[in-house]
Amino acid sequence: MTTFVFQNPTKLIFGKDQLQKLPNELAVYGKKVLLVYGGGSIKRNGLYEEIMNLLTAHNFEIIEMAGVEPNPRLSTAKRGAELCKQHDIDVILAAGGGSVIDCTKLIASAAKYDGDAWDLVIGKASPQQALPFGTILTLTATSSEMNAGSVITNEETQEKYGWGGPLNYPKFSILDPAYTLTVPLDQTINGIVDTMSHIFEQYFHTGKNTAFQDEMCEAALRSVMATGEKLVKDPQNVELREAMMLSGVWGLNGFLSMGTRGDWGTHDIEHAISAVYDIPHAGGLAILFPHWMKQTYTRNPKRYVRLAINVFGVDPTGKTDEEIAMEGIDCLSEYWKKIGAPVTLADYNIDDSQLELIAEKAAINGPLGGYAQLSQEEVLTLLRACL
Ligand code: NZQ
Ligand code: ZN
Repeated sequence: MTTFVFQNPTKLIFGKDQLQKLPNELAVYGKKVLLVYGGGSIKRNGLYEEIMNLLTAHNFEIIEMAGVEPNPRLSTAKRGAELCKQHDIDVILAAGGGSVIDCTKLIASAAKYDGDAWDLVIGKASPQQALPFGTILTLTATSSEMNAGSVITNEETQEKYGWGGPLNYPKFSILDPAYTLTVPLDQTINGIVDTMSHIFEQYFHTGKNTAFQDEMCEAALRSVMATGEKLVKDPQNVELREAMMLSGVWGLNGFLSMGTRGDWGTHDIEHAISAVYDIPHAGGLAILFPHWMKQTYTRNPKRYVRLAINVFGVDPTGKTDEEIAMEGIDCLSEYWKKIGAPVTLADYNIDDSQLELIAEKAAINGPLGGYAQLSQEEVLTLLRACL
């Protein structure tokens, strides 16, 4: 294992009717709240009204910031930071999916930073302070509700990067699966793919003595796949939504990666695709991952053999390692196809015209990925395989 320090300070408040705890949780930080949300899903499913009723009944002063886009933009975060400064906000409340939460993380730090907010994303400056914030999650996918990551798109330069730090952990996150019942089928599928991809990124590492972490990842993958398959057929089933919601949190809250360093190359490449084409994050991952696996399995075939047998139930009898590994990768492709995930870049009308630009953006800091380093040229080969 690698050495590590683990500290995840987010208070998770999970389950039915837990929204009632919101006023007490917010009041710890003050009474002036910036409510951040996206394009209106919280108005359509009644969450907005419930938040407003609860907060006004408890005498909070609420400033609203609507309109955070999927793949949240730098200009939107800057608008939020300005509102915080202008209204002397005490605490921010994010109500939505990963995009709303990621944007809130940048708003919180940018509100306490005098320079350009993009400096914080690209690491030109590191935040010294941030406003406290809590979240109400409405979409299972990113685990942003319990991690320190934030992914922001600079729409002017067509760059999309992840950044993080201790100030990015939500103070609390309220997760009631009932609010995810309105998530459309395509976003539900994206959530399953994103959660699985996070586990893959952590499973593909080069560490030793990691039996516990590896078996946790394998069990998590089996469980997500079983729940996911049922959920796409029965999306109004709140128990399935509940099970998926907890899986999404665990997918990337740090527990699965203690003592290991994963790969994350596929995420970097996907962020570059989304930066250029603004496609849903997990849609890109569904297309990339099976091809990434086929391109990299020779670097450690035993890992893929193990994945195939322990997660996809491949029978190894009489087969070579290569045959077992390939069968496992095919099982993944079939599973994602079966639940309705996109398969090729053409599903998003992406042709080969910008692939070189995407590869360049993905590999801007040199070869990427921890488990299987890919050069810019190899990224381009991978992208072409996805057409
Ligand atoms: O904007 P609204 O109207 O809220 O609609 C959203 C949006 O259109 C809708 N939605 C959310 N909850 C809903 C709902 N619709 C109906 N009912 C509900 N209950 O779903 C759409 C997508 O939302 P978004 O927040 O963009 O999805 P997701 O949670 O998948 O977040 C994606 C973003 O997170 C980043 C991605 O790159 C992407 O920018 N990631 C963040 C990570 C992190 N912070 O750790 C890690 C991830 O790997 C990922 O990169
Ligand atoms: Zn992801």
